[in-house]
Amino acid sequence: MTTRTGTPFPADFLWGSASAAYQVEGAYQEDGKGVSVWDKFVEIPGKTFKGTNGETAVDHYHRYKEDVQLMKKMGLKAYRFSIAWTRILPLGKGAVNEAGLKFYQDLVDELIANDIEPVVTIYHWDLPQALQDEYQGFESRQLVADFVNYATILFEAFRGKVKYWVSLNEQNVFTSMGYMLATHPPGVVDAKRFYHANHIANLCNAAIIQKFHQLGMPGKIGPSFAYTPAYSLDANPLNEVAQVNAEDFLSHLWLDVYAWGEYPRPVLKYLQEHDLMFEFTPEDRQLLKAARPDFMGINYYQTASFAFNPLENGVGQAEMNTTGKKGTAKESGVPGLYKKVANPFVERTNWDWEIDPTGLLVGLRRLESRYRLPILITENGLGEYDKVEDGAIHDSYRIDYLSKHAMAIHEALEQGVEVLGYCTWSFTDLLSWLNGYQKRYGFVYVDQDEKQDGSLTRTPKDSFYWYQKVIATNGTALYADK
Ligand code: BG6
Repeated sequence: MTTRTGTPFPADFLWGSASAAYQVEGAYQEDGKGVSVWDKFVEIPGKTFKGTNGETAVDHYHRYKEDVQLMKKMGLKAYRFSIAWTRILPLGKGAVNEAGLKFYQDLVDELIANDIEPVVTIYHWDLPQALQDEYQGFESRQLVADFVNYATILFEAFRGKVKYWVSLNEQNVFTSMGYMLATHPPGVVDAKRFYHANHIANLCNAAIIQKFHQLGMPGKIGPSFAYTPAYSLDANPLNEVAQVNAEDFLSHLWLDVYAWGEYPRPVLKYLQEHDLMFEFTPEDRQLLKAARPDFMGINYYQTASFAFNPLENGVGQAEMNTTGKKGTAKESGVPGLYKKVANPFVERTNWDWEIDPTGLLVGLRRLESRYRLPILITENGLGEYDKVEDGAIHDSYRIDYLSKHAMAIHEALEQGVEVLGYCTWSFTDLLSWLNGYQKRYGFVYVDQDEKQDGSLTRTPKDSFYWYQKVIATNGTALYADK
């Protein structure tokens, strides 16, 4: 199935781009904002690149109008951004901080006035520190009610204005990095606590989706999952088994719960045998089943290849490459299940992320076959070093990356996959949680650095003008020079 039928992208296809509150807003103590777990975590020496934090970020809080004007100039159809819980409820619950809510009301109004569809992420990792202190955040069932309370405030405030809602961003990433690798808050390495916290996160996700539907909210809601389709290194049956394990433990463990309210049975069996099982009540099961999302949000950056990993002396967990030095990523895995190995057929970025547009097609087809849900690509992009040369940024590598991924989406659409839109990561440059400002993703360059003393001037990169053309032609410009 490699032929193109020439079908255009759907007329209402959401050509978008994305960001997250902590990574762009700055103003970390303004207008009554409370402290989030990230505000605290970055204070621990060695956790982020050169100790960067989001105190200023790219100052979107004060410059959102300028940023929206750039979106308008580009012709952007949708802008995905997240709301900082601590601006709405500084302590995670209690009285609403009206000034914090107003910032997002103004942003939403500004987007709508400029014909840009707001796509709101309810939770992009910045949990109120007060809830972490009071009951350990995701490790307590108390969080579910507080989550629903927070989400309901947003639903009521933006009813009729916001039609696309993302419940949790990359639950698989924030739970794994928070509880298995200690590279995100709360900085824990404990498999049992990881599976437990992840289950609570599932309950939070399901509870807010259920609430959305109970309230009869106009629009759609779904989670955003960091989907890394798994390949087998080769046709060695042992490697194939490793691939099947990886799909279950690294993808279906979340996706099946979202779509069907069920955990993969092989994973549950493994957890029971390894004394890792979490408390899973009949009421939990009911809630998970009652909350089918309206779409599956997919953050796609890469595929991963897997090989047999022996139980004895197998490869264990390893941290990601956060140095930007290509080739420094280490093999990682779970002995007895799988190990992640380098794919010999693809290129990789300087951070060793494998560049695989075809993998997006593979992933979209797998999701379509398994879940039959519409898909919104909520993130996809290339993190690279950018250079300013005579006031311009010639990021042909990003154009190449994005155009190939957009074409893969087109191919998936032609093959019958329902893709609602494509939100690239990211609109402006922003703060990478662990990589500071050396790793950039934006269409718009922002003069900011790890010392936070940049001018914050915005400069559209070559990719900005490229995407502008793609949007204006509803995708046909992708094939203009092909
Ligand atoms: C996703 C997150 O994991 O990837 C974003 O949702 C993040 O918040 C993006 O910035 C890129 O990650 P990184 O580590 O390259 O900045």
